Amino acid sequence: EKGGHDYFMLKEIEEQPEALENTLRGHFTGGSVVLDERRLTDQDLRDIDKVFVVACGTAYHSGLLAKYAIEHWCRIPVEVELASEFRYRDPVLGRDTLVVAISQSGETADTLEAVRHARTQRARVLAICNTNGAQIPRESDAVLYTHAGPEIGVAATKTFLAQIAANYLVGLALAQARGTKYSDEVAREFHELAGMPEAVRRTLSTVDQVRELGRDMAGSKAVLFLGRHVGYPVALEGALKLKELAYMHAEGFAAGELKHGPIALIEEGLPVVVVMPSPEGRALLHAKLVSNIREIQARGARTIVIAEEGDEAVRPFADELVEVPSVPTLLQPLVSTIPLQVLAAEIARARGFDVDKPRNLAKSVTVE
Ligand code: F6R
Repeated sequence: EKGGHDYFMLKEIEEQPEALENTLRGHFTGGSVVLDERRLTDQDLRDIDKVFVVACGTAYHSGLLAKYAIEHWCRIPVEVELASEFRYRDPVLGRDTLVVAISQSGETADTLEAVRHARTQRARVLAICNTNGAQIPRESDAVLYTHAGPEIGVAATKTFLAQIAANYLVGLALAQARGTKYSDEVAREFHELAGMPEAVRRTLSTVDQVRELGRDMAGSKAVLFLGRHVGYPVALEGALKLKELAYMHAEGFAAGELKHGPIALIEEGLPVVVVMPSPEGRALLHAKLVSNIREIQARGARTIVIAEEGDEAVRPFADELVEVPSVPTLLQPLVSTIPLQVLAAEIARARGFDVDKPRNLAKSVTVE
């Protein structure tokens, strides 16, 4: 049952406000952030001096965002690593290291092996998982469940947004335990997070515009995605969605890297999707991205710009402009990802592919 949609993924994209609501519900009580399971003491949390985030695919992209929030709020160094690379590299781990393992299924072999490796090194492990009682949470010291509901489409959508929210909850829980944020600040951050389901709902009004754009882009050979700061992981996620669904060559770049090589790829008519930061919240980065867009437009690229509502400065350089609500910087990925999910699905559909069951992919990857 696709709920009246052309494909299931669209239904799951539209379920994202509820996925966020359900993930946040009950996790802020009595003025503090609570996890689902915790076999770690407050002292254990206070002693953490290093965080590793390990995950694969889309979950890894959510993990990249965890770094921005946790370092900012907790002042602890955070490394984010692909689970399949982590354990073969002899990472420096100890009792005061927290390894955050993010996995929708909770059964991904690479992530599970990373967790086991961390535990043999006596690191503490916190799992973020969408599946109750799965193997990864069972082998972890603490668990925070995302409550996105079962995800049927092979491409992760609502679980990605739920993972971002869960990562931020972990960041707030750590900040609170370590005292790097006062409780009223934690409450304020949580409150902003709790306002996101509504912002996501408003973002869904872009779906029709983006579907039309997707149909129009279906004949392209390749698509590039650019972002900076928290827009960079969003660009990576947009490219991954497009590869897996539309079987199209797609790459995400940190926009600042353009001039260090990728700009050579720009040619007449190449679609480039740019995730803009807020013109007010991140004025400096915004100005840099505008100048990146001018450069690629001057070289013939077709610029597709995801920007905050009312961003007039970027409008002249956008061949297509998709406007998303203005929200605090760390939360921006929760809205700017949505058009990229829809774009990938619609391009895939227009190319005649099964959006819900892309070739060669399985929902849960239980071999390394
Ligand atoms: C992409 C996608 C995959 C998964 C990855 C990790 O749309 O779904 O990249 O994100 O295989 O899966 P989990 O989260 O189950 O560990």
